[in-house]
Amino acid sequence: MKSILDGRPALKIEIDKVAEVAGYLWQKGWAERNGGNITVNISEYVDDEIKSLPAISEVKQIGVTLPNLRGCYFYCKGTGKRMRDLARWPMENGSVIRILDDCASYVIIADNPVLPTSELPSHLSLHDYLIGSGTDYKASLHTHPIELVAMSHSPRFLNAKEITRVLWSMIPETLAFAPLALGIVPYEMPSSVKLADATLEQVKNNYDCVLWEKHGVVAVGPDIMQAFDVVDVLNKSANIYMCAKNMGFEPEGMTDEAMKEIQDVFCLPKVRPIKK
Ligand code: 13P
Ligand code: ZN
Repeated sequence: MKSILDGRPALKIEIDKVAEVAGYLWQKGWAERNGGNITVNISEYVDDEIKSLPAISEVKQIGVTLPNLRGCYFYCKGTGKRMRDLARWPMENGSVIRILDDCASYVIIADNPVLPTSELPSHLSLHDYLIGSGTDYKASLHTHPIELVAMSHSPRFLNAKEITRVLWSMIPETLAFAPLALGIVPYEMPSSVKLADATLEQVKNNYDCVLWEKHGVVAVGPDIMQAFDVVDVLNKSANIYMCAKNMGFEPEGMTDEAMKEIQDVFCLPKVRPIKK
């Protein structure tokens, strides 16, 4: 069967990265059944032939109006689809959508009429903001990382400052590679517009990763690999925290001075970079 990826090596590289990350999510135990979703803004790879592809679905409403997304194209994991299947067959377990001129609806254009993830309002609201704020971020990842979700069951850690401080203090790399961690969204119904709005507020506050209470995380990044890396380093810290607790003690954590030194020496960003 003909695929939109045929003869488009740059687009294929992006979709291959999505498939690679989907495999990691499954291997890590973060993607039970259909858990988690991925969307990637692929508009930069869209040529005239793609622009003229007919819709292979009805027009579908997003549920929100997103002015910066007019004419954009996204690869989206399909709702109900498994990451472990997507890892092998990305175009059977996801699809490419075109946002229509009203900025409130979309159609599927390739390869198969796979209905996008139920978390589409969240993902697209983030993409709309990321474009509007001038970043070159193209990827949004939602997953269910075990240790971070476990921490979200504790009222102590439903405080962005506190959970970020504890996670950064577990190992220097987390501070270095997740310098824009970790916002919190109190529990909301999965796939709701309320959840999308609350997540967007946190991303606007310059958090690259947001913890959804008793559910999972959303991370954004320049590409899907970098969005995954942020969750991976944060969850590594959560795992170290839990290992120490399992050994019967509260981990000491790096001192505030040691963390400040890393921030200064590595000139770690405090806000998301903007395209030049
Ligand atoms: P989808 O299968 O619709 O992507 O949903 C998975 C999920 O994790 C919802 O929060
Ligand atoms: Zn979920």
